[in-house]
Amino acid sequence: MAMVSADLAVRNAAELCTMQGPEHGKGEAVLGSIAAGSVACREGRIVWAGPDRTLSAEVEMLPGARVVDASGCVVTPGLIDCHTHLIFAGERADEFASRCEGVSYLAIAERGGGIGATVRATRAASEDDLVRLALPRLRRLLSFGVTTAEAKSGYGLSLSDELKMLRAIARLPALQPIEIVPTLLCAHAVPAEHARSRGAYVDLCVQEIIPEAAKAGLARFCDAFVEQGAFSLEEGRRILRKGKELGLAPRLHADQLSALGAVELAAELGAATADHLESISPRGIEALAESGVSAVLLPTSTLFLKQTRFAPGRALWDAGLNVGLATNLNPGSAMTENAALSLSLACLCNGLSPAEALWAFTRGSARALGLGDRLGAIASGMQADLVVHACANHRHLAYHLAMAHVETVIKRGRVVLERGPGSCRCVEVP
Ligand code: NIG
Repeated sequence: MAMVSADLAVRNAAELCTMQGPEHGKGEAVLGSIAAGSVACREGRIVWAGPDRTLSAEVEMLPGARVVDASGCVVTPGLIDCHTHLIFAGERADEFASRCEGVSYLAIAERGGGIGATVRATRAASEDDLVRLALPRLRRLLSFGVTTAEAKSGYGLSLSDELKMLRAIARLPALQPIEIVPTLLCAHAVPAEHARSRGAYVDLCVQEIIPEAAKAGLARFCDAFVEQGAFSLEEGRRILRKGKELGLAPRLHADQLSALGAVELAAELGAATADHLESISPRGIEALAESGVSAVLLPTSTLFLKQTRFAPGRALWDAGLNVGLATNLNPGSAMTENAALSLSLACLCNGLSPAEALWAFTRGSARALGLGDRLGAIASGMQADLVVHACANHRHLAYHLAMAHVETVIKRGRVVLERGPGSCRCVEVP
C-alpha cells in the first residue's frame, strides 16, 4: 500500500470515533470506533485513519509536521450545531424568571415579550454590534468542541434588519474558526407593525426579503416557525416555496408546541429538516421517514421551556430517519452554548444512547445541513475537523452532565483551541 504524507497527526486515542459504523445501525456500533486509533491529515483534509500501530508503516510525517498526543482521550469529528439563533441583541432573563413562576412561553409572547422583545433589541443594534455580540457565543461553542454552526436571522423581520443579521453572519468566518451555515428565518414571527396586516408581512417576505437574501447569496436555507402565534400552514407553505424556488432549501420549526401539520408540510416540501418535534405524532414520523426529511432534536429548549414532552428521538431513530442534534442557542428558549448538555438530554429525555447522541451531533447534523460529504466523520477525504476530549470513552461525553471534556480542537487541519496538558483530566488529591 502506498504511503500517504501528513502535516498533522492525532495519535493513539483510547477511542477514535470515526462515525463510519453501519448505516441506520443502533447503539455503539454507529460510532465505528477504533481502539488506540490515530488520524493523519494534510492541508486540512484527513488522509488516513486507523490503528496507531499501523501508522508508521502507512503514513510519512512531513518535516515540521505536528503530532497531537491523544492517549487516554476520545477523538471525534468536530461537533456540528445545526440549529442556532446565534445572532441577537438584548437578553430575556426576566422572562426566564416569569417562566419559573409558571407563566408560559406563549403567554409571554402574547403580552409583548418573547421573540418580539429580541426583535426590538436586534433592530436597535448595528451590524457591528451583532458581530461583537456573537463572537463570545462562538468562543463558548468552540470550547464545547463545535467546529461548524448554523446561524439564523429571524430577529430583524424587516428587509433591512433581516439583511443586517445575514451580513453580520457572513462576517463571522473571517473573525473566528467556526464555520458558519447561514439561514434566512424571516418567518420567525409576524412583527408588531404587521399584527393587523399579516398578509402584507408574508407578501414582504415573498416579494422582497427572500429574493434579496437569495440574490445577495447570504443564506443557504429558508426556515419558518409554523405554530400557533407564529405562522399558519398556508403562510409557511408560501414562504418556503418561494425560498425553494430561489435555491434556499426549506427547514421548519415544526410541531414544537402543537401539531398543526408543520411536519406534514416539511414532508410535502421535501424540506431539508424538521426541527423540534416535541409534539410530533406517529403519523408525522412516518411522513418524515417516507420523504427523507432529517429530524433535528433540540432538547435544551424543551427543558428550558419546561415542556413535559420531549421529542421522541428513539422513535425517530428507529423509523430510519437521519437524526441531528443541536443546542438551539437563543435568548428565549435555550440560552446555552452547552453542547454537552444537549448530548446528555438527548440520552436522558429523547431516548438515544450516548453513542447515538454523539453520532447525531456530528454525522447526523452534517447530513441535516447537506454537508455529509465533507463533515461529520473521520475518514480519508473528509475535512480535518477533530476534537480531542479528555475522557476515557465516548459515554463520558453524555454521562458527565453538561461537562466539556474538550482538550484540543482542530479546524481544517489547524489547532484552534488547546488547553494545557491534562487540564481537563481529574487530578487525584492525596
Ligand atoms: O427554536 N421556536 C422558535 N424559535 C426559537 C425560540 C426563539 C426565541 O424565543 O427567541 C426556538 O426555540
